[in-house]
Amino acid sequence: MPIVSADIRDDIAVITIDNPPVNALSLAVRSGLSRELALVNSDDRVEAIVIVCAGRTFCAGADISEFGKPPMDPSLPDLMTEMDAIEKPLVAAMHGTALGGGFEVALCCHYRVMDTGTKVGLPEVNLGLIPGAGGTQRLPRLIGVNAALDMITGGKPIDARKAVELGVADMLSADDLLEDAIMFARSLPPQDSVRRVSDLTVHADSEIFDIYKQKIAKRARGFLAPFTVIEAVKIATEMPFEEGIDFEREKFKELVASPQSKAQRHLFFAERAAAKIPGIDRSTPTRAINSVAVIGGGIMGCGIAINFLNVGVPVTLLEVSSEAADAAREKISKIYRSSVSKGRMTEEELLTNLANLSLSTEYEELSGADLIIEAVFEDMDVKKDVFAKLNAVAKPGAILATNTSFLDINDIASATSRPEDVIGLHFFSPAHIMPLLEVVRTGDTSDDVIASAFALAKNIRKTPVLSGVCYGFIANRMSSCYGREVGLLQLEGAGVEQIDQVMYDFGMPMGMFTMLDMAGIDIGVMARAKLSKDDYDERAFAVHGALVERGHKGQKSGSGFYIYDDDKTLNSEVETIAEEMAEKFGIERRTVSDQEIEERCVLALVNEGYKILEEGIALKESDIDVVFALGFGFPRYKGGPMHYARHLGLKNCLKNIEKYANTQGERWWTPSALLVKLAAEE
Ligand code: 3HC
Repeated sequence: MPIVSADIRDDIAVITIDNPPVNALSLAVRSGLSRELALVNSDDRVEAIVIVCAGRTFCAGADISEFGKPPMDPSLPDLMTEMDAIEKPLVAAMHGTALGGGFEVALCCHYRVMDTGTKVGLPEVNLGLIPGAGGTQRLPRLIGVNAALDMITGGKPIDARKAVELGVADMLSADDLLEDAIMFARSLPPQDSVRRVSDLTVHADSEIFDIYKQKIAKRARGFLAPFTVIEAVKIATEMPFEEGIDFEREKFKELVASPQSKAQRHLFFAERAAAKIPGIDRSTPTRAINSVAVIGGGIMGCGIAINFLNVGVPVTLLEVSSEAADAAREKISKIYRSSVSKGRMTEEELLTNLANLSLSTEYEELSGADLIIEAVFEDMDVKKDVFAKLNAVAKPGAILATNTSFLDINDIASATSRPEDVIGLHFFSPAHIMPLLEVVRTGDTSDDVIASAFALAKNIRKTPVLSGVCYGFIANRMSSCYGREVGLLQLEGAGVEQIDQVMYDFGMPMGMFTMLDMAGIDIGVMARAKLSKDDYDERAFAVHGALVERGHKGQKSGSGFYIYDDDKTLNSEVETIAEEMAEKFGIERRTVSDQEIEERCVLALVNEGYKILEEGIALKESDIDVVFALGFGFPRYKGGPMHYARHLGLKNCLKNIEKYANTQGERWWTPSALLVKLAAEE
């Protein structure tokens, strides 16, 4: 079966694209489509042409793996020009996710018939791009400037119902899509049935575009593509179609070659590669997870429970007393009520989800659960006690998971007689929102338990990354190094606001001190109290401890590194404490440059990342990028710390790490052996 084929059904030509898995517009698809369109266009029997796709979706876009390689003709824009010249009505019969170039092919058709489950969109901004096959010029002509800007700068698809409302879809099909599309094509009036979007015009006041730039300034901070989209859509209102297309094409080429798009494309493939684990594939059996139990109704436990309730999986939440259980239900209800008030869910969905929630105070009631996730206090003895109890009540084959952020899961599993069923499922707070799931395997976790964890992550719409066991796993081990450098820089003389601003400008969602205030400074202080001083740098966290002693625990106490009144202002005590601590530890204070702050924070991550790799804790560099981008908001346009290190050059990174080994000491700055090896090969 050719990738693109045509079938003449009386007066209608049906062109079918069959390029699994997602009908990406590869060279073979483009040339096949070009060839078949030319043939049916010149066939006198054909009155109208329907383009349809086989498999799970209409074309999901240009073939991203071709980007950055030498262009091969026909290009997608050339194909669009050919389509625009066709004199017979063109109907797109759409299903699945018609995205990017796929949606642009449909926009180049004269009509769009959609299966009711179809989603359409232009997600190019997520890859650091603008649409490059006419999307910025055709969509505003079809649906107006504001709706087009929302769709293209946001990158989120819309559903078929919305597509009808906006005038993108001409007909919905609830039954046989192809038959309906053929029927639609036959029903077109013989005259005026060719309706090219490129022939439409669109107008808007030029000030709309400045207002729109301000509207997206916060969410698109640091990204180039969304602002380029605004420029391109503005051109659609000012210039003839062809000039708009030329502008779009130039900007698309510039962006494809930009470090931002390379970084964002790297993350696209990295997120998918994270699910590929040597020795575990589609043939690995998975365990059915139809019921879940969560132990602990704190913020974390409640957030974890919500993930499963949201996808219709019943949850039993265990607490120590009925009062604590009631409080947990109230926390979950409150989160749901806030979602309803923001229009993110309906009252009916709220009731359905809550009806799936059971509260309990008895371990015996967890005996039917397929998966039990522990989210209790971060203490080894407490966790082992929980797992010993679970071992007694859980049914054979139940997966026993811990949400620990730091502790040794081999040790936790030793409290059971079935360590092969034990795994770490490390959620990030708030657990019902953050997209990352760190899946931690012990030396004993069985392959089917790992495969099941990856399958459940997909079900609850999280991106899973596999980690081995070490203190803090991938995410918190690296984050601790970042926190250490921030603390040391502060003692050396850098200001709280200075450090926060530098890393905010680097692209992090917020600075470390702001984050500590949000999370609660006392949490880290309590966690470190259980560690040996050999395991961390006590100098780096001395200010934290002193602040907590004085009642400054962060936002929850109204003050931490900052004071939270009407405004957020610097806590003046912090500098005095930092001076005292610097003196105590014999650290000479000096002016610290912004460049040093950024370099030390980033290189601490890079060096630790390579150590994590050489120890086999992470399977691949790109997994670490996914963890840091999704877990801590490392700017996607920089691709994650490891990709960024490659962008900076590994030799360059190593040189600077060696510089800090000389100035800061080798305790934390000994270069990773793997980094040394890879830098030599660069
Ligand atoms: N190009 C190349 N490969 C693609 C692709 C694309 N556009 N879209 C998906 N794939 C690959 C994935 O890498 C994956 O490969 P793998 O199995 O080897 O890992 C496979 O197809 C299946 O993808 P998913 O695992 O993501 O499958 P899902 O069912 O979860 O999701 C999807 C399907 C919603 C289509 C999702 O893949 C997606 O969002 N794809 C990207 C869509 C996109 O960004 N399109 C715009 C591309 S840029 C463009 O079109 C430019 C144009 O304006 C010129």
